Amino acid sequence: MNAVVLLGPPGSGKSTVSEVLGNKGYQHVSTGDMLRDQIRLKTQLGIKAGKLIDHGRFVSDEVAVGMIQELLEGSDASAKFLFDGFPRTLSQVDSLNTMAKLFELQLDKVILLECPDEVIIDRLSGRRSCDTCGTVYHIKYNPTARDGVCDIDGGNLVHRTDDTEYTIKKRLKVYSKRTAPLINYYKAKKLIHTIDATMSIDNVRDAALEQLN
Ligand code: AP5
Repeated sequence: MNAVVLLGPPGSGKSTVSEVLGNKGYQHVSTGDMLRDQIRLKTQLGIKAGKLIDHGRFVSDEVAVGMIQELLEGSDASAKFLFDGFPRTLSQVDSLNTMAKLFELQLDKVILLECPDEVIIDRLSGRRSCDTCGTVYHIKYNPTARDGVCDIDGGNLVHRTDDTEYTIKKRLKVYSKRTAPLINYYKAKKLIHTIDATMSIDNVRDAALEQLN
């Protein structure tokens, strides 16, 4: 098994970039999407996770690691993963290292999307996602052809409940305290490749695609 990690603050464009990296044979694995599925299904985990997410807090490391472990257990040796939003704490890094040994998973690189806070606030305030397929749009930078309707499957567009001004600010604080330390960790391992995520969507996607060539 092989994996690439997409690292970056909330709203830096991880999902947007993942949409095109899938064409390179990578399976997109977003722990945020997995949790939102649980919220939609109103499972015990979803109910708990929904409250934490809406307050800009992380779910526990055990929950995040458990979801990834389950995925690896059910995958074959030739699988290639694009991890989006995992790992996001140093403890999750340790768990990933342990799982890597157990499942013979090689981490090929970590793509860091760098983006300043003021750009992020503008992006998340205007983000809309399809409530059925999850495709991500932006009212200004990546609008749909028809207002409020997904181009892919005609689903309704929704504004994520964690994209309020209060929660965005909280998420940025949590990112700099708990996730940003991963940058130095992976720099020391010479695995980090940084992309300026303030460029246009097409340019960021092209830069990410180049990393996978
Ligand atoms: P998650 O869904 O992973 O949220 P996130 O990391 O905060 O990232 P986002 O999905 O908000 O943003 P993105 O970087 O994907 O940007 P996007 O492409 O949408 O996780 C949600 C929550 O789940 C977390 O807060 C946490 O509580 C929990 N969680 C998840 N994983 C966890 C874990 N491992 N451990 C513990 N808890 C976990 O783009 C944003 C907007 O900008 C869009 O509108 C897009 O169209 C636009 N845009 C993108 N790129 C550009 C560009 N280059 N130019 C202009 N606009 C752009």
